[in-house]
Amino acid sequence: MNSGTATTSHPGTTWADRIVNRLLGPFGRQVLPRPQNQTIPPGIPDQELYGIPEDFNRLYQPWLGPENASLLRPEVTANTLLDPRKLYFLRQMARTSLPVPGDIFEAGAGSGGSTRVILDVLQKAGSNKRIWSLDTFEGYKKIDPAKDGDHLKLEGCRCASLADVTRLLSTPDQQVVLIPGLIPGTLSQVQSPLLSFAHIDVNLHEPTLAATEFVLERLSPWGIVVFDDYAWPATYGARTAIDEVCRNRGLDVTVVPHTTQAFLINSPSKAR
Ligand SMILES: C[S@@+](CC[C@H](N)C(=O)[O-])C[C@H]1O[C@@H](n2cnc3c(N)ncnc32)[C@H](O)[C@@H]1O
Repeated sequence: MNSGTATTSHPGTTWADRIVNRLLGPFGRQVLPRPQNQTIPPGIPDQELYGIPEDFNRLYQPWLGPENASLLRPEVTANTLLDPRKLYFLRQMARTSLPVPGDIFEAGAGSGGSTRVILDVLQKAGSNKRIWSLDTFEGYKKIDPAKDGDHLKLEGCRCASLADVTRLLSTPDQQVVLIPGLIPGTLSQVQSPLLSFAHIDVNLHEPTLAATEFVLERLSPWGIVVFDDYAWPATYGARTAIDEVCRNRGLDVTVVPHTTQAFLINSPSKAR
């Protein structure tokens, strides 16, 4: 649902939308057409197609299209806090980094949905890279109220158990190595000197800072890091940690518009 000053009846809307629009019209709001078959619904006036600012995403959402159905299967969606847009971006970045030498690192496996998406990328490409994925598997065990705020609570963000996540991610060659426990203490168990891709999603200042430092020490040239929590107001402690590490290393972080994610690419001029 978008706000708008005029109530227009678009051909892409359903009859139910049109009834709701009659009721919403006096309040200057309306239901706009949903994307159908990933094409632009007919009849959208030019000033709306080219007007700025506009939420073009409602007209073209590849992350919901049939070509990306694997992102939306229950095995993924039932085991992640990431929405389809974020899963799509994560998958695309993991796929883009495939030619880069090194393994894959994740801080914050949660219930394993984000890890499953990365594993799918490796399996589809026939890659034998390992995924080192860390979590307490018991939610927040340590919070720094001064850096994270006092709105976050111990045991918060508790996802699936280690046993359930192990089942979700098990492969004959044990491509995913799950490391339970508190970051930073567990980082030393990651036995890979070189990383090509990292997903950092632990919400809190201290583990984000330590995981980001750890990754940047090992990231290959052209390696990519996706940060899940950068622009989420509730996890500003994670953003300040990322900013601190990247500022010290002269690395640029780019925010992904309309999600809470950000990413960086270790371009050769900045690489170690
Ligand atoms: C937002 S969840 C991860 C979501 C997951 N990537 C997904 O696909 O839904 C954040 C995770 O960080 C973990 N976490 C927070 N602090 C941690 C720490 N110091 N060490 C390890 N894991 C931690 C929590 O247990 C939680 O599972």
